[in-house]
Amino acid sequence: MTPTGRPEGEHRSAQHEGSSPTAATIRRALPGDARAIAEVRVDAWRSTYRGMIPDSYLDAMKVEASEVLWQRVLAAAPNTTSVFVAVGDEGVIAFAAGMMLAEPRFGLDAELTAIYVQPRHQRTGIGRRLVRAVVAAQRAVGATGVLTWVIAQNRGARKFYEGLGAELLVEQPFEWDGMDLVEAGYGWRDLDALAAAGGSTPTTQHP
Ligand SMILES: CC(C)(COP(=O)(O)OP(=O)(O)OC[C@H]1O[C@@H](n2cnc3c(N)ncnc32)[C@H](O)[C@@H]1OP(=O)(O)O)[C@@H](O)C(=O)NCCC(=O)NCCS
Repeated sequence: MTPTGRPEGEHRSAQHEGSSPTAATIRRALPGDARAIAEVRVDAWRSTYRGMIPDSYLDAMKVEASEVLWQRVLAAAPNTTSVFVAVGDEGVIAFAAGMMLAEPRFGLDAELTAIYVQPRHQRTGIGRRLVRAVVAAQRAVGATGVLTWVIAQNRGARKFYEGLGAELLVEQPFEWDGMDLVEAGYGWRDLDALAAAGGSTPTTQHP
């Protein structure tokens, strides 16, 4: 599990009932987005992983620490890592990241390492658009299959991945930052099918 990736959780946004697609633009993240990405990540962790990860850990999370990590990731571009943000009226409301794996796992050569949508914008179609943006970017640098990891208890994200056609590959215990957790690995082997899953394509994807 990486600090940018795994934990996720069962979360059903109150907005789901009757919600319509949020008017958001999907674009490549820029170095100046690091702070906003960190804020989305910390908000989403606290709302998603409560009850899965100790409160003490969630409450101690620092946006500044996450921001430093994302600054490094974004400053390292261009490379085979891709980071996309969804931008709405209030700025960055979601992000997702992918990378090529040094060694294929389960026959998959790329990983979706993080995807987080601000709680109030969940279930409006942004996550699906972000997955497709990251997968398209990873394909452009050679990916043929994509792996992702979730905390096993995160039923919401599991349903999200399953709805996008991901195959459950493994469930296994793992330790992260001193915490004993169980993770589920999902994979997409047919990226054409994933690109076609769930409707229209992302509105904009700036290089
Ligand atoms: C999981 C997450 C990335 C999905 O993004 P999203 O923008 O909320 O999802 P979408 O609106 O694109 O959903 C697409 C479909 O996935 C399924 N889905 C998404 N979230 C779901 C949930 N919590 N429960 C059940 N199904 C869900 C639904 O079929 C949904 O379509 P519908 O709303 O028309 O029924 C987002 O909800 C999130 O950030 N959750 C908290 C953090 C997290 O768990 N991240 C994943 C870490 S591994």
